Amino acid sequence: MVYDLMMQLTKEQIQNYNDNGFVLLTECFSKAEVQRMKMRLPGLFAENTPKRVLEEQGKTVRSVHGVHTTDEIFQRLSRHPQLVKPAIQLLGSEVYIYQFKINAKAAFKGDVWEWHQDYIFWRKEDGLPTPRIVNILVCLDDMNEFNGPLFFIPGSHREGMIDVMAQKTSNQSQTEEECPAWMSNFTARLKYSLNQELVGDLVSKYGTYSIKAPAGSVLLFDSNIVHASPNNISPFDRAVVIVTYNSIENIPLPVPNPRPEFLVSRYYRPVEALSEDNLLIENLILQ
Ligand code: SIN
Ligand code: MN
Repeated sequence: MVYDLMMQLTKEQIQNYNDNGFVLLTECFSKAEVQRMKMRLPGLFAENTPKRVLEEQGKTVRSVHGVHTTDEIFQRLSRHPQLVKPAIQLLGSEVYIYQFKINAKAAFKGDVWEWHQDYIFWRKEDGLPTPRIVNILVCLDDMNEFNGPLFFIPGSHREGMIDVMAQKTSNQSQTEEECPAWMSNFTARLKYSLNQELVGDLVSKYGTYSIKAPAGSVLLFDSNIVHASPNNISPFDRAVVIVTYNSIENIPLPVPNPRPEFLVSRYYRPVEALSEDNLLIENLILQ
């Protein structure tokens, strides 16, 4: 019961989320829970599948997508009450998992994420009707000023979706098979990035904020907040999981070229939260 209340956001936290477009919750997952998740990474990063995106140099893993459907520990995380309950609270309805990704941001090698908003990708590529969707990030490593932390422009979500022109991002010499069109949403050159002038204007208006958070922290952020992260030149990895929960009242409309299921789930069943200790249980029967 005490746990249950801890996993609900307080009025003040909801207020912060609404005002700033994000809220950081520290000490959500224990060292043992983080360890259990981190142990999964080498195996997942070694799997050569379309779910895996490499950095531009073609060697280091940048992201893996959709592994909550295949990896039991990450499936459990995606159904953890520490994520699911705040998502339901913020969206005011039942939720389903829209997207699941692990961003590796490896020591010395992790590349930038240019300034962008998330909702524009989901609206233009996936037909998502409204921004009634929330990102919940879990830090698997400490995130600090050295290892490519997330930068926010606090309050910028209140601008709504900024309708920027799509950038030409893919390498012309590569075939569709080598570099599918959706890839440009996940490489360092993003399709809907914001130009420098726009970022300058938004920063003069709202300022900037750099996230500093120990491993095990949870960061909730709005799909319209302008954010970015610099490259990681430090010797410290900065892995995060980002689970995106969508309201079941905000199902995407049909689009001509739907992106793969591992990027945009069309499994609309509401998520049922597991117990708060689920990451540490040895043999959990999932259904
Ligand atoms: C990051 O992992 O630093 C950025 C992720 C994002 O833009 O969603
Ligand atoms: Mn983003």
